[in-house]
Amino acid sequence: MKEPLHVAISGAAGQIGYALAFRIAAGDMLGSEQPVALRLLEIPQVVQSLEGVHMELQDCAFPLLQEVVTTSDTEEAFNGCDIALLVGARPRGPGQERKDLLQANAAIFSAQGRALDAVASRQVKVLVVGNPANTNALIASSNAKRLNPQQFSAMTRLDHNRTKAQLAARLQCSVREVKRVTIWGNHSATQVPDVTQALIADRPAWPQLDHGWVEDTMIPLVQQRGAAVIKARGASSAASAASAIMDHVRDWVQGTAPGDWVSMAIPSDGSYGIETGLFCSYPVVCRDGRYNIVPDLAIEEPIRKRIKATVAELLEEREAVAALLKPS
Ligand code: NAD
Ligand code: LMR
Repeated sequence: MKEPLHVAISGAAGQIGYALAFRIAAGDMLGSEQPVALRLLEIPQVVQSLEGVHMELQDCAFPLLQEVVTTSDTEEAFNGCDIALLVGARPRGPGQERKDLLQANAAIFSAQGRALDAVASRQVKVLVVGNPANTNALIASSNAKRLNPQQFSAMTRLDHNRTKAQLAARLQCSVREVKRVTIWGNHSATQVPDVTQALIADRPAWPQLDHGWVEDTMIPLVQQRGAAVIKARGASSAASAASAIMDHVRDWVQGTAPGDWVSMAIPSDGSYGIETGLFCSYPVVCRDGRYNIVPDLAIEEPIRKRIKATVAELLEEREAVAALLKPS
């Protein structure tokens, strides 16, 4: 039996956290041969309710689940952890944009960045989900000076999955057949769902698509999908977010499928003219626990313009939290 991997989940009693813990314990994220130990973190007022989550996890008798710790102490949760899922943060309500959460949530991520720096495994992989996710990842990483920024990422996989699903529905094929869609930029209404490189059953999708539908229907639908779910459900997406977290970490750890790529918001290395250091969503291929940005894609002018706008928003968000960023 392998040694367990320690997975910390902040906001573990929240909507996403509740869905997440059970899927990880079932092996959906790290595979059916990998034992896991869960560290469930909540704020002191809520930590009591984690006892219920703990009992339910026990009652599932998951063969891979070796240990569960519930705590409101951030350093206890992150101590030696291999994977940190930073979910705990306030969600937006109807009529809000994700960046409206910046001031409310930013302080959480500077404190958690410092705690990860102090006690996490030196190889920890961090996924920031709490919104606005890209800028929160920048804050966390900049407060964790002894960790490599490349150990941090923010989630745009839900947007990536939404794009795949829309394309499959439009072209009446299985999502299995859809490859090489990309989300560029910010996890916000300026994000750029790009299907110009997409493949359907290994053939280019672009010649099969009505380009008007892509511009006027698909792109706005994906950009506004989070708001549409909030309007319909009265609460932000949870099960689909948890599922995207499974996909993001599984691919980062175990590698992306041959011939395909995925979208992850990661610190820019300047690729595609995007300012170095910004947490920007890119198409990436993962191998051996590392990601690499897909190089040399030909970017059409309309997509280039949209990328410029989403990067401008990331720069604005960075400016708004400048006080929380540690100089490198
Ligand atoms: P929720 O309100 O149901 O749960 C959040 C939990 O976090 C609460 O239980 C709260 O007590 C806890 N929390 C708050 N501050 C904390 C802290 N400092 N440490 C530990 N726990 C803390 O919200 P949710 O629906 O689970 O959403 C969580 C976040 O994820 C929101 O910011 C939401 O906007 C974001 N989200 C992002 C994506 C994405 O694709 N990136 C998708 C869905 C939701
Ligand atoms: C989503 O994309 O569903 C989440 O970021 C929640 C939100 O605020 O839209």
